[in-house]
Amino acid sequence: MVAINLLSVALATLAVAPRAFGSPLEPAVLEARGRTHNGKETTDRPVIFPYPLNTGKKFDETPKTTKTCFVDALGNGLDDGPNILEAAKKCNNGGKIALLDDLYTVRTPLDLKLNKVDIELQGTLKFVDDIQFWEKNSFKYEFQNSSSFMQIGGKDVNIYGGGTIDGNSQKWIDAHAVNSWVWRPILITFYNLDNAYISHINFRYSPNWYILVHTSKNMIFDNVSMAGGSSSANAPANTDGWDTYRSDNIVIQHSEIDNHDDCVSFKPNSTNILVQSLDCNGSHGISVGSLGQYPKYFDIVENIYIFNITMTNATSAGRIKVWSGEYAKPPSWVEGGGGGHGRVNNVTWDAIRLKNIDYAIEITQCYGQSNLTRCAEVPATLKISDVLFRGMYGTASKKYDPKVGSLVCGGVENCNNIYARDINILPPSAKSPVFACTNMNQALLDIPCV
Ligand SMILES: *[C@@H]1O[C@H](CO)[C@@H](O)[C@H](O)[C@H]1NC(C)=O
Ligand SMILES: *[C@@H]1O[C@H](CO)[C@@H](O)[C@H](O)[C@H]1NC(C)=O
Ligand SMILES: *[C@@H]1O[C@H](CO)[C@@H](O)[C@H](O)[C@H]1NC(C)=O
Ligand SMILES: *[C@@H]1O[C@H](CO)[C@@H](O)[C@H](O)[C@H]1NC(C)=O
Ligand SMILES: *[C@@H]1O[C@H](CO)[C@@H](O)[C@H](O)[C@H]1NC(C)=O
Ligand SMILES: *[C@@H]1O[C@H](CO)[C@@H](O)[C@H](O)[C@H]1NC(C)=O
Ligand SMILES: *[C@@H]1O[C@H](CO)[C@@H](O)[C@H](O)[C@H]1NC(C)=O
Ligand SMILES: *[C@@H]1O[C@H](CO)[C@@H](O)[C@H](O)[C@H]1NC(C)=O
Repeated sequence: MVAINLLSVALATLAVAPRAFGSPLEPAVLEARGRTHNGKETTDRPVIFPYPLNTGKKFDETPKTTKTCFVDALGNGLDDGPNILEAAKKCNNGGKIALLDDLYTVRTPLDLKLNKVDIELQGTLKFVDDIQFWEKNSFKYEFQNSSSFMQIGGKDVNIYGGGTIDGNSQKWIDAHAVNSWVWRPILITFYNLDNAYISHINFRYSPNWYILVHTSKNMIFDNVSMAGGSSSANAPANTDGWDTYRSDNIVIQHSEIDNHDDCVSFKPNSTNILVQSLDCNGSHGISVGSLGQYPKYFDIVENIYIFNITMTNATSAGRIKVWSGEYAKPPSWVEGGGGGHGRVNNVTWDAIRLKNIDYAIEITQCYGQSNLTRCAEVPATLKISDVLFRGMYGTASKKYDPKVGSLVCGGVENCNNIYARDINILPPSAKSPVFACTNMNQALLDIPCV
């Protein structure tokens, strides 16, 4: 009897003892030197480099990490955000943040300013779908009224691990169908980041663009996967794969994208960008722009190479979209725009396989202006030069059959040295394909212009 009583007293004491070894009260963020935690093991950082092409610019090596911060998921829908932020603090300057559990729930805007940090994500990091919360707490950017769940900046960052970042988009998809003004967060924004490698991560169900690369440089994205969808009658909208803005020396390669807007989009001031070996399905193509939306800025997209892409079920394969020469507010778009200046220079689409594409090539300088008579009266001034479409093969959709492309420049002086070579696109009717060409130097276009 006495022995049993003593034992229960001992157990009761153990139960309230703080931070007893192996108890649930162990801290959720553990700083350690080893590789394993709770039976799960971290892996080595993968070696990432551009291939087969490169940008000709340098990517620096990032130093080895010297410690690890393991974050235990709290479970039960509790917010893991504060612990992730704590780990980012503890392991900043040379550590690894290890997210090895199956599910991390996040209801905290994650602002990670990292220096020499690896993030190994093996499980899923999922944002809660509280629209009002994120309206107030997401990161806001001036460009196109964009907002984001999380942002990562700093220097020398590696993110990998085979895990998933999930934007839990369904509520936003349905809210957007009712009110197009609703703030829909971008899944992840890289803001003010220099020298970073993002590889082997799945991006799922973004309410908006998947990835915004904003004011960043020297980044490689490799072997990532993107996909989403809707379980209601409302389709996802604006789910661009990557958007680059005010960024330089970026490589996007060896990845699969299944989305409903641009697969990759080069927004204002995107320079030295290489996109290679992607499999894009359901997109609006790989696009320059839109540009010229805001007259207060000069928009530059320069030195872009797009190579070895399989483009399936898309509205376009290669696209350049420029707003018209004056402000216009399209009926369904929140902001409108036009009248801006800038240049598109030295952009190549090379080796593109097409399956079921509305337009192989689409160039417009009347983006956002549905009144084409008006657009012709006030044409865009933004200049497009040294553009090459080379080696595009495959099938068009029946949408514009037998038209398989549209190259319409706002004025002959706006478009210089635009070439098309080795283009072979078959419309489903098997009629001879045609391209609509306006204000283009047709001597440089080896395509059947009408
Ligand atoms: C969107 O951005 C424009 C221009 O930057 C701004 O005037 C407008 O107020 C913004 N809209 C919202 C909903 O914040
Ligand atoms: C690339 O991603 C696939 C699918 O997620 C994975 O099986 C493979 O291990 C990854 N490769 C590398 C080198 O990370
Ligand atoms: C083109 O991309 C595919 C994957 O989409 C890859 O298997 C192939 O090796 C790439 N070809 C070249 C020449 O890089
Ligand atoms: C590609 O997109 C179509 C819709 O456009 C979809 O039905 C199909 O499942 C997608 N395929 C893949 C492999 O993602
Ligand atoms: C792009 O860069 C040019 C030249 O530095 C600058 O004048 C312009 O404001 C920039 N545009 C944007 C959108 O930042
Ligand atoms: C054009 O861009 C490519 C990269 O896409 C670059 O290698 C080349 O040097 C650029 N050409 C000029 C004239 O700057
Ligand atoms: C393209 O989309 C159609 C449905 O719209 C689908 O049946 C087909 O599988 C898609 N093609 C590919 C390669 O995914
Ligand atoms: C389109 O623009 C033309 C020329 O400015 C104008 O006469 C016409 O009324 C406009 N049409 C509509 C539907 O606004």
